[in-house]
Amino acid sequence: MAFLDKHKAIETHATLLLVLSFLVVTIGGLVQIVPLFYLENTIEKVEGMRPYSPLELAGREIYIREGCYVCHSQMIRPMRDEVERYGHYSLAAESMYDHPFQWGSKRTGPDLARVGGRYSDEWHVDHLKNPQSVVPESVMPKYEFLMGNVIDARYIKDSMSANRLVGVPYTDEMMENAEADFAAQASPDADTEGLLARYPKAQTRNFDGQADLTEMDALIAYLQMLGTLVDFSTFQPDPAR
Ligand code: HEC
Repeated sequence: MAFLDKHKAIETHATLLLVLSFLVVTIGGLVQIVPLFYLENTIEKVEGMRPYSPLELAGREIYIREGCYVCHSQMIRPMRDEVERYGHYSLAAESMYDHPFQWGSKRTGPDLARVGGRYSDEWHVDHLKNPQSVVPESVMPKYEFLMGNVIDARYIKDSMSANRLVGVPYTDEMMENAEADFAAQASPDADTEGLLARYPKAQTRNFDGQADLTEMDALIAYLQMLGTLVDFSTFQPDPAR
């Protein structure tokens, strides 16, 4: 056939094959990549996502410092087994205020993207202090020392400024109230009205059950928030996409 004869010419000339393959890959690449430059935003906005509260942000930093991401992912893939075990698959918008993101690449332990509200604070305290007391076969290290590490809001503004620099929309009002919000979230008798207006759905209580504000409080505040900001009973994917 004439068509196949012509194709033979391509197949038998390495240089011609190379040039034509390159052309095809280039066109394919452009078709995929160019539209991204014209989109205002590649992340679909989703109701409920907000910057982390000062205490949650401090907890996130402890999570990173302790390398929790080495054993835990925060990315539920859109596959049936994952969705049945962990809940709705992760949306890009759920990581939009994570710098750096915490998707992880290995699961020695379970995914934590929706661990918020799954266990009580007491469970988290017991588990973090001594994972084997709750799950005897666990290989997770003990983090009891977090109970003894008292923290204050000294560095929280710096941390929020750094996040603001890379695009997290912390407002001036949030910055001004950072220290007060930090402390208020973990004290049961504090006035938390302003905090809740700035950070809707922020959970406010004494997380570790001790009088002092410790790294354990911050870490549990962070864990209990994970996956709770977007309301998936009403979530609808944007039909325009
Ligand atoms: C060496 C790996 C390893 C590291 C590091 C690690 N974990 Fe785990 N984690 C596990 C394993 C394994 C499990 C499952 C058994 C268990 O519950 O202890 C687990 C379970 C958990 C659970 C319960 C999740 C669920 O859905 O049941 C939470 C919450 C958790 N880890 C938080 C953390 C936090 C926070 C850190 C960092 C301070 C951390 N882990 C560090 C291995 C690890």
